[in-house]
Amino acid sequence: METKRRFPQGFDWGTATAAHQIEGANVNNDWWAWEHTPGSPCAESSGDACDSWQRGFDDVAVVADLGLTSYRFSIEWSRIEPAEGEWSRAALLHYRRIGEALLERDITPVVTFHHFTTPQWLAARGGWSEPSTADAFARFCDVAARELAPVLGRACTINEPNMVAFMAYEFGTFPPGHTDADEARRVDDVFADAHRRAVDAIKQHAPDVPVGLTVAMMDYQAAEGGEAACAAARATEDHYLDAAAGDDFIGIQTYSRMLMGPNGWLGPQPGVPVVETMFYEFWPEALEATLRRAWERTHGRSRLYVTENGLAADDDEDRIRYVQRALEGVLRCLDDGIDVGGYTYWSLLDNFEWAFGYTPRFGLVEVDRTTFERRPKESARWLRAIAQSNTLDVGARH
Ligand code: GCO
Repeated sequence: METKRRFPQGFDWGTATAAHQIEGANVNNDWWAWEHTPGSPCAESSGDACDSWQRGFDDVAVVADLGLTSYRFSIEWSRIEPAEGEWSRAALLHYRRIGEALLERDITPVVTFHHFTTPQWLAARGGWSEPSTADAFARFCDVAARELAPVLGRACTINEPNMVAFMAYEFGTFPPGHTDADEARRVDDVFADAHRRAVDAIKQHAPDVPVGLTVAMMDYQAAEGGEAACAAARATEDHYLDAAAGDDFIGIQTYSRMLMGPNGWLGPQPGVPVVETMFYEFWPEALEATLRRAWERTHGRSRLYVTENGLAADDDEDRIRYVQRALEGVLRCLDDGIDVGGYTYWSLLDNFEWAFGYTPRFGLVEVDRTTFERRPKESARWLRAIAQSNTLDVGARH
C-alpha cells in the first residue's frame, strides 16, 4: 500500500560531485601522483575523468534538467594554489562562474573546499599529519572565499576528514599510504583544527552563508562480542561530530552498514545483498540510523544535511530501490523531529571512484568515456519527479 508523503517546505534536493573525480588532468595533487606511483593500489589513473574542467557548464545544465535545487561540487586546491603562495586567478574565476551559472538557474551552489585531494607541494612537506597544514588550509579558504563569497549557497569545509585520516594514514590505500594508527589520530586533530580555522576564514567573507563539515558515517552494529569494536569504530565519527556540533550544519554521508564482531567488521552477512563494486552490504536503512546517531551525539545542536547518499549499480532499478528506502528513512527521522535540511544524491555523474577507478557507477547520469556525452538514467527522471513535487510515494518501488 502506497502513501504519498510530503517533505518539509524548502527541503533541499541536490546532487554532488568532487573536482578530482570529474574534472580530469588534476596533475598537481597528491592523488594524481598516487595513481601513478609504481605498485599503487589504484585500479587506474583518473586521467580525463568526465572532462568537467571543460564541460562544467554542461554539468550545470544537466543539474538544471534534473530539477534539483542544489548542486554540491568541490574546488581543487592544487589548481587554485599550484605552488605555495602562488594563486591562480583563472581557476578562481572558473569556479566563480560555475557558481554564477547555478544561481542563474535558481540552483544553490554548495561548495566543498577540500574533497580528499591536497596539492603536491603540501603533501611533500607532511600533508595532514603536519599541524601547520591547518594554517595553509585556512589561508587557502580565505583566498577562495574572498573570490567565491557571492556564489556560496552553503560551504562544506572538509569532505569526510575521518575517511582521509583512516584510509590515508591507517589503512594505507589513500595517499600517502601510511599504516600508523597513532599518526591517523594526530591527523584527526589537525583536521579538526583546520575545520575550525576554515569556518572562521569563510565567515570573514560570507558571514551569512551556512558552513559545515561532512562526516563519513557507517551504520555500525555490534554482533555478539563486537560491542568494543563497534564503539571504537564510532569513536572516530564522534571526534568529528563533536568538533562540528553547534556549526550551521553537519553533512552526513552514509552508504551502508557494518556488523562488528570481536575483531572488527564481519563482512557482508548471509542473505544480505552486496554492492558488488564496493564490497559492502546493500543497506539503505543505514542513512536513517546514522542521522539518528548524529542528532543524538550532537544533541540536535546543528541542522543535518544528507550531503552524500547513493548506490554504485549497473542496474538502475537497484539505485531507485536503494534511494526509495533511504528517503523513507529520512521521512521517519523528520517525523521524529530531527532537523534534516535536505538530501543530496551521490553522484551527478558516473565518475572516478578513487582507488576503485571507474568501475563503480554511482551516477544519475552516465558518461560516455570516449565522447564524454552525458546521458541521464531512469533514476534521474525518477528523482526529478520527487524533487519537483517534494513528495515520496512511501511503499513504492521497494
Ligand atoms: C566518499 C567521497 C566520495 C565517494 C562516494 C562513493 O564518501 O568516499 O565523498 O568521493 O565517491 O562516497 O563512495
